[in-house]
Amino acid sequence: MIWGDGVSALSRIGIAIDSVLLERFDRSIGRRGYTNRSEAFRDLIRDRLVSEQTAAPNATVFGTVTLIYDHHAHGVSEKLTEAQHAHHELVISTSHAHLDHDSCLEVLIVQGKAGEVEQFADRLIGLKGVQHGKLVMTSPGAAQKQDGGKGGRHAGKHDHKH
Ligand code: NI
Repeated sequence: MIWGDGVSALSRIGIAIDSVLLERFDRSIGRRGYTNRSEAFRDLIRDRLVSEQTAAPNATVFGTVTLIYDHHAHGVSEKLTEAQHAHHELVISTSHAHLDHDSCLEVLIVQGKAGEVEQFADRLIGLKGVQHGKLVMTSPGAAQKQDGGKGGRHAGKHDHKH
């Protein structure tokens, strides 16, 4: 059954999988709190689709850039601020936490073309004084949960809390 906003019918598939591999998979998803193997498989597939979608430089993506830096080092706070102002069109919001006397954690929510977002994140992560950084890109279209088969995305029964 096809509903108005692209929610598709539920298909059942059977797959053959090495039993040792399956045991390892079950242990892995158990540690991650999955109660249901199907949902874990669906999330793997979604992750793959999001990766493919965000790999195209012109694709519109959302993302987060997580940065750890020592705010005493090499004027890094100023450089980070300058870079964010220079690319303000890519930055939706930022959040900052002072972790201890020296270390800062900054998380940026970004939006734009994948290629530009990636270049911007690389520039921030590559700044002298930034000790660790990571960009995570996502695309709401590809990640859309479409497996309920009932109503819209937030209608009917669904198994995640938000
Ligand atoms: Ni700080």
